[in-house]
Amino acid sequence: MNTIEQTNAYIMPTYGRSTVVIDHGSGASYVDEDGKSYIDFGSGIGTNSLGCSNAIWEDAVCEQVRKVQHTSNLYYHKPQAELAEKLAAMTGYSKVFFGNSGAEANECAIKLARKYSYDKYGKGRHTIITLVNSFHGRTLATLSATGQEVFHNYFFPFVEGFRYAKANDIADLHAKIDDTVCAFMIEYVQGEGGVMALDKAYVEEIRKVCDENDLLLIADEVQTGVGRTGTFLAGEQFGIRADVTTLAKGLGGGLPIGACLANEKCAEVLNAGTHGSTFGGNPVVCAGAVKVLEMMTPELLTSVREKGDYLRKRLQVSDEVQAVSGMGLMIGIALKTKKAAEVRQACQERGLIVLTAKNRVRLLPPLVISDEELKAGADILCSVLEG
Ligand SMILES: Cc1ncc(COP(=O)(O)O)c(C=O)c1O
Repeated sequence: MNTIEQTNAYIMPTYGRSTVVIDHGSGASYVDEDGKSYIDFGSGIGTNSLGCSNAIWEDAVCEQVRKVQHTSNLYYHKPQAELAEKLAAMTGYSKVFFGNSGAEANECAIKLARKYSYDKYGKGRHTIITLVNSFHGRTLATLSATGQEVFHNYFFPFVEGFRYAKANDIADLHAKIDDTVCAFMIEYVQGEGGVMALDKAYVEEIRKVCDENDLLLIADEVQTGVGRTGTFLAGEQFGIRADVTTLAKGLGGGLPIGACLANEKCAEVLNAGTHGSTFGGNPVVCAGAVKVLEMMTPELLTSVREKGDYLRKRLQVSDEVQAVSGMGLMIGIALKTKKAAEVRQACQERGLIVLTAKNRVRLLPPLVISDEELKAGADILCSVLEG
């Protein structure tokens, strides 16, 4: 059996996969099993932030594999401690919990918000307001948090206590609040929802409402975080600070990690016995993530913004492009006549990997993509759009 047949025979059919079998990669390029090359504008859905075969990241990961690959969280180890300290220094948050994915980071944030409220106010204050069109993950709680009807099927009963407000609608935001609410959870830029950024004034209003009512503001930066939008956290560009921020995707440089960061107000809420993970904060993953953070220099973040601007300029002159959304190297393209899935397929045939989000083409190139790869990818994309 070839790889595709083997996969289809033995793996649950939960993904709509493209018929590309990726064999290896270098920088922002992959090579498939047949030797065909692809420029990568997807980063494994925003995850390979340093591209492939980054020597510093690889050395740190391999060295740690040779030292000790796993300890469990019953013991201490240096890579986890170092990563936590670096995250605190770079974000201003007090403490972190490590899991293995974006959904787990959000589960942690949901539990933290409910316990914060329970500890202070007792039972009944448990509702978390999320936004229509959001995406927060695939576990039962994070599916329940996700404000899209299409995800609320089959798996009944869902987790209670979520309410969905219309993004950028301040009146609806106020209408959704009552004395059962303990938190808001938002994506500054809705990624899976079509790369839609929130209005700054709306985000400021949520922050104000949270302050006035002692509600926790949770920012799901699983997709927007770790430099993707051109600042380490996207929240920096909105001029506010959430009480809790979740990270995943780009943080591990391609290995599974989730992080739930909490400020001084709620850093001690999850105490012994209330939360945990066998693998979370694994030494190998943390050793790699430390290197990812070390590479998030002001110069790199500036280049992310510049590369994003370059792609926007290239796209804006295309007759097929209705609008370009997003921030930094998180880009959504609304099309006039073509279907996003067809554009993705045509790009793939010409050696460019792009993503879709709803009816938009979505670009999440590695943050370190070279100017040559960026230009070559933009050439293919523009020729597909205009073809
Ligand atoms: C904003 C956001 N939150 C959560 C998740 C879930 O992350 P994971 O697939 O790592 O569980 C995603 C994944 O796309 C996401 O974009």
